[in-house]
Amino acid sequence: FDTGTLAGLRVHITAGPTQEPLDPVRYISNHSSGKMGYALAQAATDAGAAVTLISGPVNLAQPDHVKRISVTTAQEMLSASLANIDDCDIFIACAAVADYRPTAIAEHKIKKGNEEIMELHLVKNPDIVATVASLENKPFTVGFAAETRDVINYARGKLAKKGLDMIVANDVSQAGIGFNSDENAVTLVTANQQTSIPQTSKRQLAVQLIEQIAKHYKTSK
Ligand code: PMT
Repeated sequence: FDTGTLAGLRVHITAGPTQEPLDPVRYISNHSSGKMGYALAQAATDAGAAVTLISGPVNLAQPDHVKRISVTTAQEMLSASLANIDDCDIFIACAAVADYRPTAIAEHKIKKGNEEIMELHLVKNPDIVATVASLENKPFTVGFAAETRDVINYARGKLAKKGLDMIVANDVSQAGIGFNSDENAVTLVTANQQTSIPQTSKRQLAVQLIEQIAKHYKTSK
């Protein structure tokens, strides 16, 4: 690995799930373990970057030499992302952010009633990576796309809609890759390029992704 590829650069990475509370004991979340985002943080550090990891609740050790900011909800992840954005050259959004949160958080534990069907009301969360990409002084912005079908087309749609420089598409319907597994396989998509990285450990994959991101970042300057 070409050490120093990212020397002098500041890389911010979101990782893990968000948890959106319903009441004091329950929340809505997803199966993200944080492994992919933490592997990227390690690879970016090894490449010489100063890394800030904005992390949802995960059971992973903090990587050495990385500044970690722990958050719970999407709104907290957005605030943490924006608070530090002036210090950011490359923003990588690997977190699995809940698209919706409960409209209200009950003050006390919601009691079981007699009704068979219970309805939850949800409101849309802010889109963190799209907000970052819309900033006037925006960093080079990389998103992920977790898809279960028509992976590349949906990823291209998100690249354009969210105003990203690059998107990393993964098929999260396949066993053994994606959410919570130790391996992943991705296709890196830019406006005019597409590069597939076959299934390998998230650690190995992160090294390859950071190399590609560094290359594209440099040509964008
Ligand atoms: O954490 P692991 O267990 O290792 O699993 C890794 C992973 C599967 C979570 C990861 O590789 C991945 O795909 N991350 C993105 C998951 C996701 O929520 O994708 P999405 O297609 O729903 O979102 C698209 C992009 O918008 C993502 O960059 C996401 O971080 C971002 N987003 C989404 C919603 C929102 N409100 N704010 C956002 O910033």
